[in-house]
Amino acid sequence: MTHPILKVVTCDGCQSYLVGCPSTRAALLVDPKVGRESTYADLLEQYGLTLVAVLDTHTHADHLSASTRLTGEDVPLWMSHATPVDRPMRKLRDGEEVEVGELRFRVIEVPGHTVDSVALYGRGLVLTGDSLFIGGLARADFVGSDPEQLFRSVKERLMTLPGETLVFPGHGYNGILFSTIEAESRLNEALQFDSAAAYAESLGAVIGAGNSDAVVRNLELNLAESPELPAVAGNAAACCAAPSKGTAVKIPEISAAKGREIRDGLGDAGQWVDVRDPFEYEHGHIEGVTNLPLSELGFHLDHFQGDRPYYLSCRSGVRSMTAAKTLARLGVVTNPVNVGGGILGWQDQGFPIIGLPAS
Ligand SMILES: [Fe+2]
Repeated sequence: MTHPILKVVTCDGCQSYLVGCPSTRAALLVDPKVGRESTYADLLEQYGLTLVAVLDTHTHADHLSASTRLTGEDVPLWMSHATPVDRPMRKLRDGEEVEVGELRFRVIEVPGHTVDSVALYGRGLVLTGDSLFIGGLARADFVGSDPEQLFRSVKERLMTLPGETLVFPGHGYNGILFSTIEAESRLNEALQFDSAAAYAESLGAVIGAGNSDAVVRNLELNLAESPELPAVAGNAAACCAAPSKGTAVKIPEISAAKGREIRDGLGDAGQWVDVRDPFEYEHGHIEGVTNLPLSELGFHLDHFQGDRPYYLSCRSGVRSMTAAKTLARLGVVTNPVNVGGGILGWQDQGFPIIGLPAS
């Protein structure tokens, strides 16, 4: 199965997704955030993609949606039929199929965090919006939230998907980018409760307590027909994720000098993975390493073979740390090692790279 082009844009804990069809180059943008419009435009250009729709997985309370700026006659907004947002849009219903070029995805309604929460499932992945997170569930203390409904939505509608389905949530914490349905069934503490009532009781959540002044302001703008949005939204005014437990993963890190020593002795280059995007890799990389971009790493889990050590590198060491933590938590790799400083640290040492010089 050809996997979609998938790019993740993270900003203050919020995650937007660009999902592209590799053959037609059509692309869907999911949960875009005010202030990151130029990043989305750059990605569309870099990957030769054309935006065909924008999906807001729900009415956002913790940040400003850029959907009003990015949608129009040619680029429709997609949201749940249950949304209170009153703008021109395609209203999605449970079980409906949506197309992005030749890719088909199924809409799954997952109310609980909000009344209009939807997830999108297909091509081996599920974009869960604010419902199932890695190691936890979304907050359920906003006006309109229902913690018992949230628990049931996730348990009955998402956790019944195939175990290998990659889970990409609307928020990321503890430096882990994605999970799988199987891993969440084992590791997500929120899902270990026997009943929705027991889960709700454990939260002690008071409905409406989450509606701070900032949340009310965000909702006003996200619900408005033609909001006057600021150029830059600043930091998230709130966070839609409840605190998650058990997701902290410690990863050993090595210097560029130690990395070179190891690289020179590696018989199998597949054990060193550069997780930068392909255009970065082409402009200069360490000889013999394998390129698997971070956001698409989940489509290549069969590259990794359990307890062999794997060395992860990127530009500066941040994305490769995310890759190492993600792979370690999934149990795909038991011994991931982060190459601190990445290719920049490598070049600082005067170590050789191949490929085009960085522009
Ligand atoms: Fe949210």
